[in-house]
Amino acid sequence: MRLIDEIRLDKTNTKYLYLQLFDELKKLIESNNIKPHTKLPTIRYLADKLNVNSSTIVNAYNQLEAKGYIYKKIGSGTFVQDVSSKEVKELILDEETNMNMDNLRLDVDANNDEKIINFASTAPMPDLFPIDDFKIVLNEVLDRDKGRAFMYQESQGYLALRKAICNYLISFNINTSESNIHIISGAQQGIDILSKALIEYGNVVFTENPTYTGAIAVFKSRSARIVEIPINKDGIDLIDLEYKLRSFKPKFIYVMPNFQNPTGYSYTITKMKKLIELADKYNFYIIEDDYISDLNSIAQPRNTLKSLDTVDKVIYIKSFSKIFMPGLRLAFMIIPKTIYNEVISAKHISDISTSSLIQRAFHLYLEKKIWQKHIEQVNTIYTKRYNTIIKSIKKHMPKQIKYILPQGGLNFWFSLPSGYSANELYKLCYKYQITIAPGSLFDVWQRDTRHFRLSIASIHNDEIDTGIAKLGQIIAYFLKNNQKDPIAVDLYNNLF
Ligand SMILES: Cc1ncc(COP(=O)(O)O)c(C=O)c1O
Repeated sequence: MRLIDEIRLDKTNTKYLYLQLFDELKKLIESNNIKPHTKLPTIRYLADKLNVNSSTIVNAYNQLEAKGYIYKKIGSGTFVQDVSSKEVKELILDEETNMNMDNLRLDVDANNDEKIINFASTAPMPDLFPIDDFKIVLNEVLDRDKGRAFMYQESQGYLALRKAICNYLISFNINTSESNIHIISGAQQGIDILSKALIEYGNVVFTENPTYTGAIAVFKSRSARIVEIPINKDGIDLIDLEYKLRSFKPKFIYVMPNFQNPTGYSYTITKMKKLIELADKYNFYIIEDDYISDLNSIAQPRNTLKSLDTVDKVIYIKSFSKIFMPGLRLAFMIIPKTIYNEVISAKHISDISTSSLIQRAFHLYLEKKIWQKHIEQVNTIYTKRYNTIIKSIKKHMPKQIKYILPQGGLNFWFSLPSGYSANELYKLCYKYQITIAPGSLFDVWQRDTRHFRLSIASIHNDEIDTGIAKLGQIIAYFLKNNQKDPIAVDLYNNLF
């Protein structure tokens, strides 16, 4: 099939030409008339053949990319997305932004009496939330501040909270002042605000590969050119990074140096220092997403890039979602002075300010030292799960599965032997009521990979061993049957 012959544009129609082209290409992709990962013609070539302006092609391609039908690869061109895996992507992507996992679980429960075993979600379970303690601080704020608790707050955040955060950071060896702290409505908003403040159309940003799905979505929404740097068990690949720094001028690099999502890997202090040196030498910012360094199961103190930053190149984002309550929508950033104005303006445009009531309540929570008690409890619970899963992995994972165990955090990263698809494994597991997160979710171009992530955030300690044993059996079956879908076989009865 010649692609050009299949596209029908009607210049007499009042519908914009780029939307017509978008519809035509979408149809061809959905009907599998253009196969996944096919390279699309260049803008100039297609404009020429269809006799339209280049901007028509650019707009249609942008629209297709935003809707997940195509992906762009720097230096290589534009390719068709595998829309058959879109279903997988949406299911978990919603989970990563903490939206749909509960629905998923309810659906499964409604259809079967079995309960789903959830190794996919990184959202904490509500039974960990300190509701009674939070009720106390909320009531105290309401009695103390009355209507003021419901006024607009200054965009940078409630001053008393910013001061309390500076004190909290001292134990992490981060010395900063309240003028550098910015309160935000979740780390996701922080990544979005920074992108609005720093990226213009076509600017280059660097990310680790694989990386956090929500960050990829933000950078794409800003039409940034994403360049990926592989991550190894001791942190980012510095040789590849420096090599790419000679060709590209990134606005920033987005990294998670502690218990990286999805791999669980952490940077050595040497790599952290070297990354900061490179940021200084090549003049780019580092966005450090510290979503979880508090969960340190091996109990060695973790360093952060920010605590080592002597050149003011690190933008530090700290979320309380994984260790506290994601629905509070509360996080903060430490911002270099050089970008203060851009960041304040982007925050104001985004939501004016983070909830005044929540900021005031959290301030009291920190001041009354209830926070310390909570973190200790959470750490005890997650360390127990961490130890359990490690034992279970060693006991039940088929030996063909490779992994490097993290030193803490929530995530464990596994590799199937080459040639096996983690998307297919995901589908098989889902059929037997186990959810895992396939590597395609964390790939900038959503390519299917042989890697997958398990998380201990949404599973009780006493479910872990049964879950990993069951998963081990599914994987053994999957490997033996060489990726064939065993729908015709009653796997469930055979195996469990
Ligand atoms: C690495 C990482 N950063 C940021 C977020 C979003 O955090 P928040 O709930 O604070 O917006 C997540 C959520 O899954 C995450 O995994």
